[in-house]
Order: sequence, then C-alpha cells, then structure tokens
Amino acid sequence: MTIIRLESVRGTKDILFEEAEVLRDIESKAQEIFTTYGYRQIRTPILESRDLFIRSLGNETEIVGKQMFELKRRGDDNDVLVLRPEATAGIVRAYLASSLYRKRKKSFIKLYYIGPMFRAERPQRGRLRQFHQIGIEAIGSDSAVLDAEVISLADSLLKALSISGYTIKINSLGCLKDKKRLSDELRRLLEDKLSLLCADCRDRYNRNVFRVLDCKNDACKNIVVKLKLSRKNYLCKGCLEHFESVLDNLKSIGTKCQEDVYLARGLDYYTRTVFEVVHPALGAQDALCAGGRYDNLTEQLGGEPVGAIGFAFGMERLASVKDSLSIAPSKNSVYIITLDKKAEREGFVLLHQLRENNIPCEFNFEDKSLKAQMRSANNLGVKSVILLGEDELKNNTVSFKNMRDGVQETIKREQIIDKVKNIT
Ligand code: HAM
Repeated sequence: MTIIRLESVRGTKDILFEEAEVLRDIESKAQEIFTTYGYRQIRTPILESRDLFIRSLGNETEIVGKQMFELKRRGDDNDVLVLRPEATAGIVRAYLASSLYRKRKKSFIKLYYIGPMFRAERPQRGRLRQFHQIGIEAIGSDSAVLDAEVISLADSLLKALSISGYTIKINSLGCLKDKKRLSDELRRLLEDKLSLLCADCRDRYNRNVFRVLDCKNDACKNIVVKLKLSRKNYLCKGCLEHFESVLDNLKSIGTKCQEDVYLARGLDYYTRTVFEVVHPALGAQDALCAGGRYDNLTEQLGGEPVGAIGFAFGMERLASVKDSLSIAPSKNSVYIITLDKKAEREGFVLLHQLRENNIPCEFNFEDKSLKAQMRSANNLGVKSVILLGEDELKNNTVSFKNMRDGVQETIKREQIIDKVKNIT
C-alpha cells in the first residue's frame, strides 16, 4: 500500500484554530465596513478560462506567463481552464454577463469578494500558491471622488483591524495613450543602462518595461530610483487633472498617501490611479493591498468602456501584521464532567439543553478520569464546571463549581440552566 503524503501541497497551508479565527475576524470586520460603504457581495467561480486572464492581465505579465495553474481537459486543447490567480477579471466578466450590464448598460455597481486565489509562484515568506484575497470592485464610474473613496476604504479597514505602521503609495499611469508615452519614456531612460540591469529586467525591457520598476534586485532598484520620471512628461491634461483631484479629495478627508512616480503595477489592465499599501513588517513581499483603475477592461473583454476601480488585500499578509487582539478567547463557559456511563447519558442531555439556551459548553468525549476532565476544563478556561456522578443522578441534582472563586455547591437539576445563565 502506498503511503499518502500528509503535509499540505507546497505553497499551501492548513489553517487551524487561532489563525482561522483571525481570518474570520478580518472577514467579518471587512464585510461590516464594505456594507457601510455600500458594497454588496459577489462570488465568482474559482475556475475560469485561461483566455480571460490573457485578455485582461496581459500575455507578458508574470502571472499569465508563469503563474497560472492550468487544467487541461482530455481532448479539448482549445479551452484551457485555470484556477483564478486574481478576482478582478472574473468579476468584470460576471458584470458583463449579468443583466445589470445587459439591461442597464453602464450601470454603476459596488461589489466585494472574499476567496482563495492561486498562483504557481516559488513559495517564500508571504508568498503562497493558494492564498486568500478580500477585495472590492466599483464598476461604472470614472469619478475621482470614487478613487478617493476606494483608497479611504482600504485605510478604514486597516484602522478597524488596529493595524498601523503602513504606507499608502499612489501614482497615476494615465490613459492608454499616456501609458504608451510612459513605457516609451522608460525605455528611453533605461536604454543606456541595460547592461547594468538583471537578466530578467533586460527581458522585461522589451516585453513589459513597467515591470522593471517592480524588480526586487538591488542593482535594478538603484537604477530605477535615479530615473528622472515625471508625471508631467507622460500624463495628458485630463489624466493629470484627474490625479490631482484624487489627491485633493483624499486630502479633504485626511487620508494620508505618499506619491510614488515609480509605482507602476505590472498588470496590463491598470490605467490612471494605481495604489499599494505596504508594511515594513512583511519583509520582501511587503504589499498588504494593491489596486487601481481599469477603465478599459470592460472594453477589452467585449463590452463598452466603463470606468472602474478596485483593490485586493492578501488576507494571510493582513493576519500576519494584525497583533494579538486577534487571539479569540475561549467561548466555552461550562464544562460537564461525568463519572460513569449513566452520568454520561444524563450529561449529554444537559449539554443539549444548555446549548438550546445558547450557552457555549463542552463535554468529555474521551473517556477520561475525573482529574483529566478537570484539567481539560481548566485548559478551556471555562467559568464553571458541572459534575454528574451516581449520587447526583440518584438525588436529581448536579455538583456545580464556580471556577472563579472555586466554590462548589449542590444544585437541583431543574435549577442548573438559570444558575449557569447568572454566572455567564
Ligand atoms: P495583486 O497585487 O496581484 O493585485 O494582489 C493583491 C494582494 O494579494 C497583494 O498586495 C498581496 O497582499 C496579496 N497576494 C498576491 N499574491 C500573493 C501570494 N502569492 N501569496 C500571498 N498573498 C499574495 C490583484 O490581485 C488585483 N486583482 C487587485 C485589484 C483589484 N486591482 C483592482 N481591483
């Protein structure tokens, strides 16, 4: 018989207990805030067609080039499915396919999502092959006020999660014509420095020069910061005004952002505003959240052009910078100890009644001694212990111990629910 590997697949992980609870806390806080800002949930499939990402993220991006998990179906080479590497493309596809777009073209809609994404990256700290994103997409407006709202929403979420020490970086790539001007400008500025760039960046120079700006190699980073890039050199009047209006709106509500002309974001669909939230505690993979406008994506996917903007947080990265506030205390308030089989049956009935009264409680499922059961109760940090043995069953009573003061008393069986309610 072959032995089954018990470890999770490389770059994926089993999320247990406290960590799962931290993720749940993040989810519920985020859902609360998204709802306040008028976002509604969307769930799109994990399986999408490969073409969707080629058309939206671009053929020359790292994600499409190297990081998609492809599922080839036998005898059907033309329709390759992939595990979604991100959610924006799928959401825009769903928007175009839905009656929202078909019946009321260009209607404005605010959506949020939570779910797993998959990228076949080389696993390292903060970089998983299956990770979770929580994000929003606002589709149907090119208002600069919306950009400010979206960025301030990311900021509000971080504040609500008590996360501090982060920086919001912001830039504008401009419209498609501006982006072309920017890539020409980048190529011009880098031309005489090509031999100093890493091999990957020399390749990026031709394929997707924006990605040189993201390179983690120290030599490339040094070259990039010395490039004399200026938004005035590549943004048209409309895009420059749009960007200034975004900054002004952010300032009006006190959301602090750092302008960064080197922030490009590698994905093809971005236009105009792009932003990233970075946190120094994350190490090399320091982006907690990333987003921006994608005003041409609906058109690239076969619809009419509509302005749109969104962001996504990496949930594992959020959890790793969120402090101890997240460790949820035990919710169990009562532990039922039983001393024999008859008492076990009665204890199970009592357990059921307590839960019907919404009282979180736990029970001995492991045939343990009295001492071991008491230890379990202590480990769970319960407020009280109910003990059932032969005498208690005979007298229709329970022994009740208040774990705070250690006082033990005998209580009539029918009074126990009220007693526990008083204590919790
Ligand atoms: P992204 O920058 O590819 O953007 O990912 C967003 C966030 O997901 C990152 O900032 C990071 O926190 C997290 N993340 C990405 N890859 C990994 C990984 N391998 N392991 C752990 N966490 C990771 C997008 O996905 C865009 N769809 C964001 C967006 C939404 N733009 C507009 N709307």
